[in-house]
Amino acid sequence: MPKLRRMRNLVLVGFMGSGKTVAGQRAADRLGLGFVDMDRLIEQRHQRSISDMFAHEGEAHFRKLERQLVRELAAQQGNAIATGGGVVLDPENIRDFSRAGVVVCCWVDARTAHERTRHAKHRPLLEAEPDRLAQIEKLLRQREPLYRAIPLQLDTSFLSVEQQADELVRIYRENS
Ligand code: S3P
Repeated sequence: MPKLRRMRNLVLVGFMGSGKTVAGQRAADRLGLGFVDMDRLIEQRHQRSISDMFAHEGEAHFRKLERQLVRELAAQQGNAIATGGGVVLDPENIRDFSRAGVVVCCWVDARTAHERTRHAKHRPLLEAEPDRLAQIEKLLRQREPLYRAIPLQLDTSFLSVEQQADELVRIYRENS
């Protein structure tokens, strides 16, 4: 009997507003991969919003839950995984995912990230900020070396969701 070929994961890393969830879901559908949005899964499992967790237990608590989920997902195959924007802050996360799949960094410039997240109400790192663009610029500057260190890069700033999904499918096929 032929062995089932198990498909590698497609792991999407990148700043808030880089299209990981929307384009990732489309790419998953086209590739026949499952789709996991890490933030939504954490919210579902803990019956709390991420904003609520940040407010009551603090960011460090959320990062612990995020770390646990990375370990769990890295032990599985066949999923497209939309990570949260801060997953790069722990290098172990990227190490685990790199062993378990094709990791793509979805880059986005600050203005585009601002445009795409301006109405969002579920991003605690932006919510309370009077000047969201300045906060995005600051966080992006701090994290840029971590995002840029990922070998597979896709600049999504000028791509539609459909174009981004096309590119993700192409990159996945070329690298898996
Ligand atoms: C975060 C990004 C969010 C979420 C949390 C922290 C970050 O995910 O994980 O609010 O540190 O950049 P998205 O990138 O999906 O918005």
